[in-house]
Amino acid sequence: MKKLCLFFILILLFSTCNITAQNKAKILVLIHSDNGGTYELAKEIAKGIESENNAVSSIKLVKASQNPNLKKLPVATVEELTNYDGIAFGSPVYFGNISTGMSEFLSKTVQLWTNHALEGVPATVFMSAGSGAGKELALQAFWNSLAVHGMVLVSNGIRGTEELNKAIPQGNTVLGITSMASLKDVDRPTKGERHLAELQGKNFAKIALALKDTRPKKNSPIVENHQNFSEILKQKNIILPQVPKPAGNYQPFVRSGNLIFINQVALKDGKIFNAGKLGVDVTDQQVKDATKVTMLNVISVLNEAVGGDLSRVKQCVQLTGIFNTKDDYTKHADLMNIASDLTVEVFGEKGKHARATFGASSIPVNSSVEIQAVFEVE
Ligand SMILES: Cc1cc2nc3c(=O)[nH]c(=O)nc-3n(C[C@H](O)[C@H](O)[C@H](O)COP(=O)(O)O)c2cc1C
Repeated sequence: MKKLCLFFILILLFSTCNITAQNKAKILVLIHSDNGGTYELAKEIAKGIESENNAVSSIKLVKASQNPNLKKLPVATVEELTNYDGIAFGSPVYFGNISTGMSEFLSKTVQLWTNHALEGVPATVFMSAGSGAGKELALQAFWNSLAVHGMVLVSNGIRGTEELNKAIPQGNTVLGITSMASLKDVDRPTKGERHLAELQGKNFAKIALALKDTRPKKNSPIVENHQNFSEILKQKNIILPQVPKPAGNYQPFVRSGNLIFINQVALKDGKIFNAGKLGVDVTDQQVKDATKVTMLNVISVLNEAVGGDLSRVKQCVQLTGIFNTKDDYTKHADLMNIASDLTVEVFGEKGKHARATFGASSIPVNSSVEIQAVFEVE
């Protein structure tokens, strides 16, 4: 009997903890940082957020970093932004503006914008500067992008300045905290800047908590895009072939940073499918079929490159189609559309790419087509 009571008490405790966790405001601290200055501020912002009992924070990067201090941090996806009750954005100051990395990430949020998916979500900004020149311009530029999303912009106002050491330059601004990394007299961020960042985080968490659950839940198609890809492929009747083995001293794919490079020919079941020159050995339709086989090989290799999780593909960046044609052939684009359409069918918006096509007098192993592909992945 005693054991049974204990069991029920444990279940009660567990479900209470679960409900409490669900009621907490989830805040993302989303940063780009090259040298770690922004990350230092992010940690203080996160500390301030967590000092509010009912708020939890996670620090994520907008893109993977090779900096030893940053490379273990998770990389955020555009799609997950809608999951948070507030986002604190941090970036280095580049030429009085937000950094290129942050700007690239924000430029991928077009679909969230068209779906009004971030409307009403509180946002606050902080930045790491060098000398501090243009820091307020940069903070304001940050606000411009977030205002277009209809986010609730939370300024830092004038807080915590009583304790600030006025004998040294400090990065306090009313829009958000900054730090001036190239001023070497004292550690940067300074004690005062760290303190202000913490206060900014705390104040932001209060606002996020107050606004939590006030937004209508939106069914963003982007979230649907993030579904299980094996399900998408099944629905579309697309079967990925076995990854073709390399025929020489090279790799099926190479990853450099967040980019994956792949080259494939029309190999199917160990043989070249519809081999030969267009107009001599094979017809337009046969080359189109070979193009589909080749693109499926590309996607299969990509699938291997992302460990079988195609939802980690952020963008098909570029496809290049090379076709075995006669000198006077001009309809390469029609052939390549097969590969482009397949890519968009599988990846939706993320499948839209830049493209090049051209004819060649011959292609290795007498394939009628070769495709070179570049994908950006998480
Ligand atoms: C391309 C470029 C432009 C920059 N422009 C400015 C600037 O306008 N004002 C400034 O104070 N610092 C500027 N900096 C310095 C960075 O803002 C500074 O090094 C910052 O601390 C980097 O942040 P991080 O450590 O998170 O990478 C610039 C740096 C680079 C690389």
